[in-house]
Amino acid sequence: MEWNTEEVLKNLADIVGSQWVKIESDDLNRYGKDWTTNLNPKPSAVVLPASIEETQAIVAFANEREIPLVPSGGRTGLSGGSVAENHELIVAFDRMNKIMGFNAADRLVFCQPGVVTEQLQKFAEEKELFYPVDFASSGSSQLGGNAATNAGGIKVIRYGMTRNWIQGMKVVTGEGKLLDLNRGLTKNATGYDFRHLFIGSEGTLGFIVELTVRLSSFPKDPTVVLLGLNDFAEVTAVLNAFQNKLNLTAFEFFSDKALQYVVDENSLQMPLDSACDFYTLVEFENETSFDLEIAQSTFEYCFNQGWVLDGTISHSASDAKKLWRFREDITASISKYSPYKNDISVRVSMVPAFLKELDELLSQVYPEFETLFFGHVGDGNIHVNILKPSNITIEVFYKKCEEVTGIVFDLVQKFGGSISAEHGIGVLKKPYLCYSRSDEEIIYMKAIKRIFDPNNIMNPGKLIDA
Ligand code: MLT
Ligand code: ZN
Repeated sequence: MEWNTEEVLKNLADIVGSQWVKIESDDLNRYGKDWTTNLNPKPSAVVLPASIEETQAIVAFANEREIPLVPSGGRTGLSGGSVAENHELIVAFDRMNKIMGFNAADRLVFCQPGVVTEQLQKFAEEKELFYPVDFASSGSSQLGGNAATNAGGIKVIRYGMTRNWIQGMKVVTGEGKLLDLNRGLTKNATGYDFRHLFIGSEGTLGFIVELTVRLSSFPKDPTVVLLGLNDFAEVTAVLNAFQNKLNLTAFEFFSDKALQYVVDENSLQMPLDSACDFYTLVEFENETSFDLEIAQSTFEYCFNQGWVLDGTISHSASDAKKLWRFREDITASISKYSPYKNDISVRVSMVPAFLKELDELLSQVYPEFETLFFGHVGDGNIHVNILKPSNITIEVFYKKCEEVTGIVFDLVQKFGGSISAEHGIGVLKKPYLCYSRSDEEIIYMKAIKRIFDPNNIMNPGKLIDA
């Protein structure tokens, strides 16, 4: 529905200033989409508030005029959660990008939602502290979006997801009310914690307009071991061996095919002498003078068991960074092949059986597709990326991928897993939510949405249908 009359745009300009209401096609295209490749942005306007009050005024006005709103953070999502395809008004938080305060005794940072993840990581470093949620998009993802999607990443095995670090939060509900949730408290046993409802709600209940983020101590000398395996069945044995002896901060994996793309695209040397089918990247805190020896003896143990074939260890922070590239650069290295993406999870112990079955199924049904496996195996989270063959059109490819989704999600359901471990539901996975959530749960979700957003103006069409 078109709502963007001159009178409406003038009202919005009265709230934020005319230079902060954008209707040029460049702006509409830029703000209208995220990193999801197969969706077409079609917003009607973009508005950039500078304060909580302005955000509240926009929401109040949108309720009056029934204008659908889409929140926009760093737009690094992969499920279309912040894509505006239906003449929505985009509310972008780029101007609300300040770190407003820090309390050293509480180790709390008070942030506006447009603060970029890396900005917070650097701020923490200046205070000799650590913000542990990290992923390849840290340079552009914003905290509001991270909280709205409960972003995960590469250190979840040790530090958990964004949820674990949000100690308080101010939100503007779909009705335009301001809620100040949990106020930075560590302990608070006063009933329903609405903070956790808004985390992962993908903008469907309201806008996150301020975050109180907890910081952690800096990890001691994070050291990386890169291991080569031929049999993925042994990956959990390797994980257990390292986990039982060392304080792990990451346990990632990637297939040889995924590695090959990183090596070719970035003109790198292969990390190990032996060619292996799978690689795991283990990061641990080098806390005591014995930890390096323990890592060495654990490697030897795994080698003698026949679980690993080869390995290398970092001797400096820059070494560690180089080894991380083999894992972290996968997404960027394959982006030109318009990959079909998935981010499923099962319990860690089930990962090898799940992946074996999935690989067999996909290579049987779609022998023409090149499938890459990688991800956060220590969290049970696997990324399945299928590259578009050059001889078919993108339309045909995505059509076939819809069938792939059915196969993958059937298997996820069989293993009791989740169809989205960290990228969220957005629009792409909305039809499949029932694979991971029961009908009763979805009915409750819809009822909760109606309470916070009675006019269904908050990111309509995402996650659930109202
Ligand atoms: C990653 O872990 O690299 C991303 O979440 C996965 C992806 O781009 O599919
Ligand atoms: Zn990931």
